[in-house]
Amino acid sequence: WERPDVRPFRQRLLVVANRLPVSAVRRGEESWSLEISAGGLVSALLGVKEFEARWIGWAGVNVPDEAGQRALTKALAEKRCIPVFLDEDIVHQYYNGYCNNILWPLFHYLGLPQEDRLATTRSFQSQFAAYKKANQMFASVVNEHYEEGDVVWCHDYHLMFLPKCLKEYNSKMKVGWFLHTPFPSSEIHRTLPSRSDLLRAVLAADLIGFHTYDYARHFVSACTRILGLEGTPEGVEDQGRLTRVAAFPIGIDSDRFIRALDVPQVQEHIRDLKERFSGRKVMLGVDRLDMIKGIPQKILAFEKFLEENLTWRDKVVLLQIAVPTRTDVPEYQKLTSQVHEIVGRINGRFGTLTAVPIHHLDRSLDFHALCALYAVTDVALVTSLRDGMNLVSYEFVACQDAKKGVLILSEFAGAAQSLGAGAILVNPWNITEVAASIGQALNMSSEEREKRHWHNFVHVTNHNAQEWAETFVSELNDTVVEAQLRIRQ
Ligand code: G6P
Repeated sequence: WERPDVRPFRQRLLVVANRLPVSAVRRGEESWSLEISAGGLVSALLGVKEFEARWIGWAGVNVPDEAGQRALTKALAEKRCIPVFLDEDIVHQYYNGYCNNILWPLFHYLGLPQEDRLATTRSFQSQFAAYKKANQMFASVVNEHYEEGDVVWCHDYHLMFLPKCLKEYNSKMKVGWFLHTPFPSSEIHRTLPSRSDLLRAVLAADLIGFHTYDYARHFVSACTRILGLEGTPEGVEDQGRLTRVAAFPIGIDSDRFIRALDVPQVQEHIRDLKERFSGRKVMLGVDRLDMIKGIPQKILAFEKFLEENLTWRDKVVLLQIAVPTRTDVPEYQKLTSQVHEIVGRINGRFGTLTAVPIHHLDRSLDFHALCALYAVTDVALVTSLRDGMNLVSYEFVACQDAKKGVLILSEFAGAAQSLGAGAILVNPWNITEVAASIGQALNMSSEEREKRHWHNFVHVTNHNAQEWAETFVSELNDTVVEAQLRIRQ
């Protein structure tokens, strides 16, 4: 017996994120080709039947002319996407500048850039002004498309001003905000010149969500210590108004990965990879080429392992997929050269005429190739210096039911709190410890691998992305109803 669906309509959900889940390529004056990128958030929301999601965000391209904007808006509408057009200067100051050069490193404990340490520097101030302006532009598009009863879900550090801008348009809008990165200790957050403005702006939301309880706790202490507000077990209170703050750990669409392993194309990839690396254990890293991912430290740990374990030298290979990202930011350009330099040195040192110890790729792989790679891996190395959650660790576990490989996982990734019992947890800054954990993983007995894998597999398959999205939105609906009841009492 199935419960009949008696709901008269599905609630509309406006998902607002800096980037739309599409990549748009201009083919002519008025023609665009679009490709949906099936990231975690997209598959989470596609699977949820309770609401009908629409996306609002930047298409990632500069479209200065009206004809181009009209054509792109029309093409995106078919994918339920609504664009926010940002000009080059705003992108430079808001996205490259304030978001990726200031907030991103700060939230990952890498500190503020030196030249921006003084609150009075022009560049800091103009970047912050551009950030607020960009958030206002997002708000105006949301407001244009908003209908009574909609839920508005804002995402990530790019849009911390958005809840405030939206409530200024309409105080009755149901607004949630979710942070995909860590929220750092209040001692780190308080170094940011615009610390109070950002906290106050985000507190305008009805519900604020983080991946872990620790991040939520850091946020509440920032509000109490920096703004002098009251923190309660429910959230943060300001003059009788409560903003709910809670942890909602994200998951993946694990079935999508598990099903992919049966696709003939993936099976073929798996056969090819097995043949290509036969006789060698495969270690894998999959990261965006970002400072927070700890790629240089990981490769140095692998070098140390090779140095200390002569017998493993031609029996193990590290495949590092490093997806280029934010390539206009100078820090990211420096990192790329640094990684290339280290990989070149190690391959020169330990390679032979027929094999090298590290295969480093500066590009992404398509979904099927990635699943095949996960499936043939013996040891995955997820050694981020800090990471909000890290879903590569989840994807690896989902694809490992046959092999039962080992996950080496940074204790500074949010995922350490859910996969910690099955993984080998490491401090990624401690190269000696990571090198030793590589040895432990490669030598682990099959019984122990099986036990550890099972622990993580159960978690990954039981906490999926769809459930995460449903929980957040239903909590947001409840929070608003409770607040209305409180006001009436
Ligand atoms: C992180 C952020 C996302 C962002 C992604 C890719 O996961 O939390 O909001 O979209 O990185 O970065 P990019 O700058 O290319 O959008």
